Amino acid sequence: MTGQGHSRYEIRRGESYDQSDDCKKSYDAAVLAKRAKLLNAKKIVHIGDCTLYLGDCLEIVPGIGPIDAVVSDPPYGIKFQSNFRRSKYDAISNDSSTEVLCWACELPVLHSAYIWMRWDVLSDVRKPKSLITWVKGKHTMGDLIGEHGRKTEVCAFYPGPDHFFPAGRPTDVIFGSSTNNKLHPTQKPTSVLSQQIQWTSGTVVDPFMGSGTTGVACVQLDRKFIGIELDEDYFEIACERIAKAYEQPRLFPAEKPKLPKTMDMFAEDSK
Ligand SMILES: C[S@@+](CC[C@H](N)C(=O)[O-])C[C@H]1O[C@@H](n2cnc3c(N)ncnc32)[C@H](O)[C@@H]1O
Repeated sequence: MTGQGHSRYEIRRGESYDQSDDCKKSYDAAVLAKRAKLLNAKKIVHIGDCTLYLGDCLEIVPGIGPIDAVVSDPPYGIKFQSNFRRSKYDAISNDSSTEVLCWACELPVLHSAYIWMRWDVLSDVRKPKSLITWVKGKHTMGDLIGEHGRKTEVCAFYPGPDHFFPAGRPTDVIFGSSTNNKLHPTQKPTSVLSQQIQWTSGTVVDPFMGSGTTGVACVQLDRKFIGIELDEDYFEIACERIAKAYEQPRLFPAEKPKLPKTMDMFAEDSK
């Protein structure tokens, strides 16, 4: 049990349950083991309102049912390799093409999808409704002579059929300092993802959760979360961070999403 009574409850695919164990626990374990097998997940972990899958999201997502919202940072298809560090965390799976990024941009969602990407792969993906720009405190290194120091990253917004802005219409700019990528080579700041999560409604899914930043932001906002990660090291980091987040006092009070206001059809930009 963690501080606030959120147990980490996990089961690996193929794991059996103990008949002499408490009935309910055994039943839950059996259901979870069956579910892991069906979804082809290597492991399922429940922590509070978060369900975390170790496995390939391309196989798992079709089995998790209708999706309310996606907030995700897939591999950008740019063969990312940190300039500064060579550690076991440097290589990112599925980063050699934009295939999984394109897949993420096509995900059917009821409320909304926010998908991070680099500006130069935009022409590969489905045209977004708008583009969110994150302005960072520092610029990146990259090509020191031939390219502008990049201080921004972009995120595509795809509204679903039930979309509304839960707390009024936001602008398309987010400000926030970058992380020092201690846990993952492309770790996003929790504060940036928190801002986006407050634009969504329902359960948030991150099929490429990496070190679990989206999940941490969901815990802080009292939102339900489903995360999937292929790499076992990152998966374990995500589990630890999310369990720890439940032990911290909530940074933001949970707010019920407001109902959409009646639309003003004559307002500018209402198209
Ligand atoms: C850009 S990183 C996400 C970083 C995350 N936003 C964070 O703050 O830590 C993308 C992650 O997707 C994972 N990944 C790549 N292909 C995957 C797949 N098919 N299924 C699940 N995860 C995958 C990689 O292992 C990597 O950790």
